[in-house]
Amino acid sequence: MQTRRIGVLTSGGDCPGLNAVLRGVTKAAEKLGWIVVGFQDGFEGLLPPVRHIMLDDAKTAGIMQLGGTILGTTNKGHFAAKVGAGDKTQVPPDVIEKARKTLSDLAIEGLIIIGGDGSLTSALQLHEAGIPVIGVPKTIDNDLEATAVSFGFYSAVHCVMEAMDRLQSTAMSHHRVMILEVMGRHTGWIALYGGVAGGANIILVPEIPFRWERVAEAVRRRDTAGYLSTMIVVAEGAVPEHGEKKVFQTSNVSEHRLGGMGEMVTGVVSEMTGKECRLCVLGHLQRGGAPTTLDRILGTRFGVQAVKLIAEKKFGTMVSYQNYETLAVPIADAVNRLRLVNPASQMVAMAREVGISFGD
Ligand code: F6P
Repeated sequence: MQTRRIGVLTSGGDCPGLNAVLRGVTKAAEKLGWIVVGFQDGFEGLLPPVRHIMLDDAKTAGIMQLGGTILGTTNKGHFAAKVGAGDKTQVPPDVIEKARKTLSDLAIEGLIIIGGDGSLTSALQLHEAGIPVIGVPKTIDNDLEATAVSFGFYSAVHCVMEAMDRLQSTAMSHHRVMILEVMGRHTGWIALYGGVAGGANIILVPEIPFRWERVAEAVRRRDTAGYLSTMIVVAEGAVPEHGEKKVFQTSNVSEHRLGGMGEMVTGVVSEMTGKECRLCVLGHLQRGGAPTTLDRILGTRFGVQAVKLIAEKKFGTMVSYQNYETLAVPIADAVNRLRLVNPASQMVAMAREVGISFGD
């Protein structure tokens, strides 16, 4: 009997924990006697000239602790099914046919697609075209519905917290206002969790439009009370009331690159309060480096569960994490439904209780 073969690819922005998933997939598949084919650079590896490597125990040994993905990834290319928050496009039929041929030439029974909202939207289109896929949710922004959490998020939060610890001491020494811009294009999860863990005084998130006067007031209040510094965390997608997101670079093949809100906050707060302000843009430091404990465990669990779903032929589903268990949900339930920070949630209320202002 021919040995069964499965495929795997990583797609979209990278994040810590991807290699833990690849290792989990490989170990679980080897246990069943299956062969794992890893496609390179996201979906692009499926197109001629096909690029793939065989994943086995030797190839995946020692990769769990590495950031990034040993398979490579891209958030652009022929399979892009989303160019903005709500804008969907169709993966061209000839591209889907080429992918189908690659998988059939390599006798692959099921393809595991590890990606965020955009990549899972492409995955859904492959599934609808009859290609057997399983999704694994990946997002440091933590904005995917249908899973309580995804790997990568807590590694990013840890990075924000460490940056805050470092910035706090220099801010206090100089009696400054320190602004830290973090990732979070549509949602403020990283800013909220990183800000709370790092002791922020003001957190600005996309879900709670802020008012400049309220932000300035919060800074002045701390100054009057004699605090040595004020720490402000700004999600890149934060917006002032009646204002717009700050776009750093537009794109018509992928989502616009955001950036600049931190700089704006620095300028306006400095002008309104007369305080010395300094900006730090954390950028891709949040996406790199070793995954934290939880992300290694989550990644491993997601990888093992994805193989189980192939064994059970539950194609068109995505691994999900709920109530401390991994399970399967339809990919269709996860995409196009961003999970936003709820301004009325317990977490936001708790942050307010410890004196954090959201500038509203
Ligand atoms: O979606 C994840 C994310 O990290 C966003 O928070 C950020 O805006 C974007 O990716 C950056 O993507 P790129 O790698 O294209 O700079």
